Amino acid sequence: MRANSPDPVHDSVTTEERVATLLARMTLTEKVGQLTLLNASEDDAPKSLGDRLRAGLVGGLLNQVDVEVVNELQRIAVEESRLGIPLMVGRDVIHGFRTIMPIPLGQAATWNRELVRAGARAAALEAAAAGINWTFAPMVDISRDPRWGRIAESFGECVVLTSELAIAMVQGFQGNDLSQPGSIAACAKHFAAYGAAESGRDYATTDVSETELRNVYLPPFKAAVDAGVASLMPSFSDLNGVPASANEFLLRQVLRDEWNFPGFVVSDWDSIRQLQVHGLTENDRESAFQAANAGVDMEMAGDAYSQHLAGLVEAGRISLKAIDAAVSNVLRAKFHLGLFEHATTSVAESRPVASEEALATARSLALQSVVLLKNDHGALPLSIDGLNSVAVIGPLADAPYEQLGTWIFDGDPGLSVTPLSAIQDLVGERVEVRYVRAMENSRSQANEAFDEAAAIAKDADVAVLFLGEESILSGEAHSRADIDLPGDQAQLVRRIRATGTPVIGVILAGRPLTLTNVVDHLDALLFAWHPGTMGGPAIADLLFGVESPSGKLPATFPRVVGQIPVYYSQKNTGKPPSNDTVVHIDAIDTYAPQTSLGMTAFHLDTHFTPLFPFGHGLSYARFEYRNIRTTAHEIRLGDAVTVSAELTNSGAVAADEVVQLYVRDLVGSITRPVRELKAFLRVRLAAGQTMTVDFELHTDDLAFYGRDGQLATEAGEFHLWIGGSSETDLRTELRIVSGN
Ligand code: BGC
Repeated sequence: MRANSPDPVHDSVTTEERVATLLARMTLTEKVGQLTLLNASEDDAPKSLGDRLRAGLVGGLLNQVDVEVVNELQRIAVEESRLGIPLMVGRDVIHGFRTIMPIPLGQAATWNRELVRAGARAAALEAAAAGINWTFAPMVDISRDPRWGRIAESFGECVVLTSELAIAMVQGFQGNDLSQPGSIAACAKHFAAYGAAESGRDYATTDVSETELRNVYLPPFKAAVDAGVASLMPSFSDLNGVPASANEFLLRQVLRDEWNFPGFVVSDWDSIRQLQVHGLTENDRESAFQAANAGVDMEMAGDAYSQHLAGLVEAGRISLKAIDAAVSNVLRAKFHLGLFEHATTSVAESRPVASEEALATARSLALQSVVLLKNDHGALPLSIDGLNSVAVIGPLADAPYEQLGTWIFDGDPGLSVTPLSAIQDLVGERVEVRYVRAMENSRSQANEAFDEAAAIAKDADVAVLFLGEESILSGEAHSRADIDLPGDQAQLVRRIRATGTPVIGVILAGRPLTLTNVVDHLDALLFAWHPGTMGGPAIADLLFGVESPSGKLPATFPRVVGQIPVYYSQKNTGKPPSNDTVVHIDAIDTYAPQTSLGMTAFHLDTHFTPLFPFGHGLSYARFEYRNIRTTAHEIRLGDAVTVSAELTNSGAVAADEVVQLYVRDLVGSITRPVRELKAFLRVRLAAGQTMTVDFELHTDDLAFYGRDGQLATEAGEFHLWIGGSSETDLRTELRIVSGN
């Protein structure tokens, strides 16, 4: 609960009237103040920033999470400035605040809208208790390059999965009503195509055609805008030659003119002044001009606006109308948040300790995010009754901080339950659990401890290897060119394999990895992402069959890094490879004619398919799909069909399955993806149960931006598939005819 503060415009009724009334009282200096977002991470922020707050030179602060300091900053703004305008208080609450949920990429692997919403809600409650009223999340960048460190913060490669989870997260953070206690403003970022960075290097150049932009990169932002996201952040990168922070096409034409976005646009950290570094402007004044002109309302952590905006207005280069529009966008959010009524947070209720509910949500998210990539001969689950001893090995078995992943400013590693401790808790009374870390960290190249690890593995009934990447290896500006397991981990796998004891791999990482050199040496492999605070119990439950794995990959796993970009919704090309296209490069006859290899779109030195496809994930149950059908085989544009299939759990245990509907538009005015996910549903089936899963498919769901640049569904033939991964072959057909 926030304490009361004076309402400077209490006579007004609607938000727009309140905004207009307040705006009319503001000087140009105060207006520019509202467009200024400052770093307030220092403990003495009330002292160092106090004078600027009193003078009305600050619209928001970020990175202060001590509720008493935040309250004091709000108090100064509200009580000691001329107009008493409260502050936006922002923080990167990306996947939890104190209680850390799995990284967003892991959350995407749950394909569970409700849980993702609940995770954001739990984070909002904890953050709001610290005085935070705004988070810089969700990141909704389509990410098709696992080298890019920020893939960890994304929902992966798929337009529909990302869009759906973007909506869920916005709803979770913002609730139904931003003014309610525990609701915080969300921020969709990074607009747009940030994930298309060349060679997966963070901040690198992006060059994306307008059709690809509109069909792939923009829809998740549109979904967030339609869900009412309060703010939006342009990316650091340049898009088709124009850095996003100066990109009028994105920020005015698309965002305001086409989508009617009513919220505010905040720059990324100092990205306005970086326009000069990009080589777009000669100095900060021009950078301020270009950003404001393009539609960046508020500047984060830079002083281009505070130094130059007023002068640009006085010189007639930026209109007062434009400034007023930007200020109104910011004030509107403050009114929606109810900050004019309650700017401060009640300290008595503000202890952001992880609640039972938050921990339960974190555990469910972790449980559902883990993907069973392989399971030879039912190596998993392990039987508690059938085992005498288990060897737990590896640098990530007992690493409370590392399992939390990137962006955990406020996360508490002290709350983490590690896999080792969870395994001990679950089975320690009946099964002997021995542990050797074997490597100092995932990158270590010292293998002195491998003998000891091999010794406990040899004596055990099963060895469970906890491998992967520490949190520092993914996230912002933490891209990798080689995405194999780092350090000597592959060697460790081979060493343990050589003991003859069955080997289970559990990988904790911030991105898809190339696992080609280890996968054959593992009897089963669970991919757990960075699973957060409750990762340990979730993993233990899955290893010992308390629950069945149900995560599905939100991003393709390449065989080798040279395949990147590799994603399921690729184009067919004029020369598609077929399943027979397998080439052994060393066996190629040097003097054979070139055409002997088939002349298709493949690499000579690897199979053209990925190691694990999008949507893949095994279960301890056995799911069988059959009888796909539609309520009609021909429909008119503007109509809908129901597509359904029967799903049977013919296994011995109850389990969740994520049912996926894919389509292919066979002929288009531009080339179309070979498959596109259109809908998905997580269902639970008891052993032996059969159910029919229905999806409603409207012809609007098949719309795309075609050769004429317009969004439309083109009549013609479509293939539809239902199944448990993007490689399902259970197919039916649909014909769409135009209305006349
Ligand atoms: C990141 C943003 C983040 C901001 C504030 C930037 O470096 O790109 O995603 O919200 O910092 O911490």
